[in-house]
Amino acid sequence: VTLGLDLGTSGVKVVALDAAHVTVAQATRPYALLTPQPGWTEQRPAEWVAASLEALRDVAAQLRVAGHTPLALGLSGQMHGAVFLDAGGEVLRPAPLWNDQRTAGAVAEIEARIPRADLIARTGNRAVTGFQLPKLLWLRAEEPEVFARTRRVLLPKDYLGFVLTGVQATEPSDASGVGALNLARLAWDGDVLGALDLPADLFPEVVASTARTGTLRPELAAQTGLPVGLPVVAGGGDNAAAGIALGLGSARPEVGSVSLGTSGVLFVPLTEPTPDPEGRVHLFAHADGGFNLLGVTLSAAGALQWFRDRLAPDTAFGTLLDEAAAVPAGADGLTFLPFLSGERSPHMRPDLRGSFGGLSLAHGRGHLVRALLEGTAFALASAHEVMRPLSGVTRLLATGGGARSDLWLGLVAGALDLEVRRSESEPGAAEGAAILAMPEAGLYPSLAGAMPRISSEPVPAIRAPQAQAAYRLALERTLDHPA
Ligand code: XUL
Repeated sequence: VTLGLDLGTSGVKVVALDAAHVTVAQATRPYALLTPQPGWTEQRPAEWVAASLEALRDVAAQLRVAGHTPLALGLSGQMHGAVFLDAGGEVLRPAPLWNDQRTAGAVAEIEARIPRADLIARTGNRAVTGFQLPKLLWLRAEEPEVFARTRRVLLPKDYLGFVLTGVQATEPSDASGVGALNLARLAWDGDVLGALDLPADLFPEVVASTARTGTLRPELAAQTGLPVGLPVVAGGGDNAAAGIALGLGSARPEVGSVSLGTSGVLFVPLTEPTPDPEGRVHLFAHADGGFNLLGVTLSAAGALQWFRDRLAPDTAFGTLLDEAAAVPAGADGLTFLPFLSGERSPHMRPDLRGSFGGLSLAHGRGHLVRALLEGTAFALASAHEVMRPLSGVTRLLATGGGARSDLWLGLVAGALDLEVRRSESEPGAAEGAAILAMPEAGLYPSLAGAMPRISSEPVPAIRAPQAQAAYRLALERTLDHPA
């Protein structure tokens, strides 16, 4: 078996997969999210390490009982975070995370020093608040004494890899979320870093996602009960690893995924690194050697969760969805803009806010929920419109809590005009990390062989063109006059 570890935002998950992708052991451990100031999110890397070692020990014990031998460990985790290390490899301060919003000034500094089109052509992305690069500039401006001692900055899973093996390294899928990786060369862009007066040796070496970075240190093998010398594989950022677990990659550029979780995430594999010229969706290196577009709408199932918690706390989601299904397409003229926490793709506007539009006495709760489902589907369609000219996707695999609803998936299929299939199982980033470790473990000669096959039935599309046109009108008004 191989192990996969996903260093998530709320906790760590470790799985053990056999060569047929059957999960034979798993464990999770939570850790705290620190919010020392409004808009700041941080975690203590020492807590990641402690939780990861406990979860690894738990899985190692399960494997011993079941008689399985772990052959390699692949890593995955939340993208974009910054672990600042001194010359001795010691952590200098808590790590700001992917969803931290403190870097507006640093983003403005990048935009002032590097033309947006140039940055997008080189790195695939415009300067984005959550990425790692602006965190470094923030540190230099706001905590200069810490910056002066910083010799290395690592992404979250790469820091864990350093603790496990003693080797500092990264791989393209996570490195492309820093904001300074040249996508054509898959190497740190010296011109971008030079324009910002940052030395390239702040960043670790980039190796392939399936490459062995090192082996588990003997004292940690003893502490966890894992084999001495267990190979540790670089792995992938969590979106890339989740894509691997679904079987998505440049070998099948016609299949992408849509996740209806708290946020809505569109993942589209590409064979070439072709960015949206305006950077309205992200372009990252994929863990299979190809590339992928990533579109993130900030409110998807999170919008329904908000509605239920605040307005119908004693009602089951299923009841709300049944009420919405009984309402005609277009919710009798009611529109919903889902920007409850601003919007990322394609608008990149943290200042946007949501709204219900066109309310009348004829509308009831079912209409509100119907409009909410349609609005989140149309928001995903807005992100997909930007991807369409770059993408060869004809089919999406759907995951996440919202994907359990045929109505919601049908609305997504209709709004994006794509075939949508519910993923049969819900493998995530930890499973993807375990698959990325399979070639190193010798279970498959290559990653292509290790990736799962795709099979499932399409969900019937539900088209609501009039409602989509009404949404567009409401959207244009809001973009012109944000609340
Ligand atoms: C991707 C992103 C998130 C994190 C979550 O750009 O910010 O999906 O990777 O862990």
